[in-house]
This record gives sequence, structure tokens and C-alpha cells, in this order.
Amino acid sequence: MYSTRMSLHTTIMVSLGDRSYPIVVGNGLLNGAFDLSTFVVGDDCLIVSNVTVAPLYQDGVLANLVGKTVSTIELPDGEAYKSIGTMQTILDRLVETGANRDTTVIALGGGVVGDIAGFAAACYMRGVSFIQVPTTLLAQVDSSVGGKTGVNHPGGKNLVGAFHQPQVVMIDTDTLTTLPDRELQAGLAEVIKYGAICDLDFLGWLENNMPALLDKEPQALAYAIQRSCELKAEVVAEDEREAGRRAILNFGHTFGHAIEHCCGYGEWLHGEAVAAGMIMAAELSDIAETDVARLRALITAAGLPTRPPAIAADDWMRAMGMDKKVQKKTLRFVLMRALGDAQVTESYDAERLQQIIGVND
Ligand code: NAD
Ligand code: GLY
Repeated sequence: MYSTRMSLHTTIMVSLGDRSYPIVVGNGLLNGAFDLSTFVVGDDCLIVSNVTVAPLYQDGVLANLVGKTVSTIELPDGEAYKSIGTMQTILDRLVETGANRDTTVIALGGGVVGDIAGFAAACYMRGVSFIQVPTTLLAQVDSSVGGKTGVNHPGGKNLVGAFHQPQVVMIDTDTLTTLPDRELQAGLAEVIKYGAICDLDFLGWLENNMPALLDKEPQALAYAIQRSCELKAEVVAEDEREAGRRAILNFGHTFGHAIEHCCGYGEWLHGEAVAAGMIMAAELSDIAETDVARLRALITAAGLPTRPPAIAADDWMRAMGMDKKVQKKTLRFVLMRALGDAQVTESYDAERLQQIIGVND
């Protein structure tokens, strides 16, 4: 750990050869304390944010871009706007500002802004640089890291997208002070996910520190973010394009994405849907009931749902059939071999699956 002006930060590397990049985690990084301009390839950048986040933090980012020519665009807020139509407005703005291949797109906001802005950067002129400045807990621990970008399609969640790695991820933990509690809790779902799939010690730490996290204690949040990013960076470095192991990061997501899709984007927050989805995946796993109960207790302690909404069995199956893990028309799930150890598999109890999705039918 080292200090830059008045801020303290740690750096975690995502090791991907010539596409490696740092994740910088600290407080007080905005307002000129961290020089983002060294990561801007040319002279021009476009900050993509939304109507909620831009008024709070755009000036802070501008102060970190001294000497650069900066344009901006504010998107409408919400998962419902994570669409091709919204991406088009970013592409229009890039064209309007005369952006070319050495323009850098800077995503300032939660996972919705990060996913769309990253996808626009992946597509514009067949790919320009981009930088992630995530401002929700969920984006800081998950979506800003690993290069998955994209938008939803009326037929399914995240169906259109590209792998496109950022130049740097800059996480100013101070941004969480303005984050609504419900959004903080949604982010905790992805934090819990890491413990459940690959780090039992971290799961134990979360059990002991959940009240501190919910109280937004800075040190607890900083550790949860750092550990989550370390775990994600490790998995992504091993399997950038999800040929195998990276799929474990999708624990709870086959069910979760179906919940988001079936309920209408934005009704259930992504993290809430993943929370209920993780319990469904745990119930489908061949693990001890005490381990399922332990995960349920932690998710409950985070104030997150452990049961899905009522969805007809046919709708579950149709939505899950669009999952990106489907191979040869066969559903595959991320299931636990034990708490803290997950794998992707097509081997599961089909009758048990029907019970799990049928319970609220
Ligand atoms: P979000 O982007 O909708 O942000 C949540 C809300 O918080 C929004 O209203 C936003 O404007 C507001 N907000 C953001 N930062 C704020 C701040 N500091 N203070 C006050 N308000 C703030 O939602 P999210 O949970 O960040 O992201 C969810 C999205 O991320 C989903 O679309 C999901 O599919 C995607 N995702 C992507 C990946 C990936 O690997 N690319 C991983 C996980 C999730
Ligand atoms: N959030 C899942 C992944 O990045 O692979």
C-alpha cells in the first residue's frame, strides 16, 4: 500500500499479457488525487455516465484528466436502458465529437453504465480504449473487472456483447457514501458469491463482518472490495474468455438472469436476483443441507432475498434456455461440490430442478 497525495490505495493486477491492467482501490482518489490521464492513449476522452452519477462524480473524474480534451454524455438511469438503443446514443456522441481510434471511453457509474460504455468502446471503429470508474459496490467487485461488456436483448439478459478489457479500473471507495442501501446490499450478493465459489475463509470473514459492511464501515468495505477483486482477477487471468473455469463466476446467475428477464428489467436488482439464484443453485447442488442453510443465513443477514418470485415453470425453462452456458441445447449450471468450491456442470438432478423452479409456480 502506498500513498498518493492524501489518498491511500492498493493495486491488484489483472494479468493478461499485453492486455494486463491495474485495479486501483482506495479512498479519496477522485478530485485530482489519481492521475487517470496516463491511461488515456491519445488526447481525447468521452466520459459516459448517467443522470444520477454524473452530477455527483463527473467533476471529480475531470480533475483526474488534466491536459485531456474531455466530452461527456449522460444516459438515462436504469437496467431498462441497458439496450442497443442506448448504446447507439453513445456511438452517435462519439461520431459527433469526431472521436477516432485514439479516443478513450471512460465509464463512470454502476454496472449498467460500465457494460454499455465498454461495449460501445469495443465496437466503435472496431475497438477503442476504455477505463472503468465504477461507483456501485457491485460494479467495484465484479462488473468493472474482467472485460465482459454488453447489453440486454428483449429475448434475454446480456445476449449481445463483447470481451473488451479496460486500461485501468479506478475504484474510489468514497463513492459508496452516496449509494442507496438497497444497491449496497445488491452488491453484497456478488461479494458473497466469491466466498461461496472459491474462498471459504472469505465466506467466514463475511459472516463475521456483515454488520460492518451494512454500516458502510470504510475498512470493512475496502477489504471486501480488495479480496473480491483479487479473486476475480485470478479467475479471469486463468480463463479470460470463459472457456472453462471463469463460468464459476456465474454462480446463481442462470436462475438470476431468468428472474431479471421474467420480471422485467429493473424490478429485481441484478444482485437481488443473483442472491435468490445462489440459493436455488445451492439447493440443486449435492451438498449438505447445513451448508445450504449457512449460505441462506449469510444472504439473509445481507438483507437479500433467498426465494425467487413466482414464475411459471415454462417461463423459467425458456429464459434459462437462453443462458450462455447452454451447450448442445443442454442446460449447464454452476453448482457447488462443497461450500467454497464450485464447478460448471451439466450433471444435475432434473427432478430436483423442477421442484426448485416449481415451488413458487
Ligand atoms: P446500476 O448500474 O443500475 O447502478 C445501480 C443504481 O445506483 C443506479 O440507479 C445508479 O445510477 C446508482 N448509482 C451508481 N453509483 C452511485 C453512487 N455512487 N451513488 C448513488 N447512486 C449511484 O446497477 P449495478 O448493480 O451497479 O450493475 C448491475 C449491472 O451490472 C447489470 O446489468 C448486470 O448484468 C451487470 N453486471 C455485469 C458484469 C460483468 O462482468 N460485466 C458482472 C456483474 C453484473
Ligand atoms: N460476472 C461474471 C464474469 O465476469 O464472468
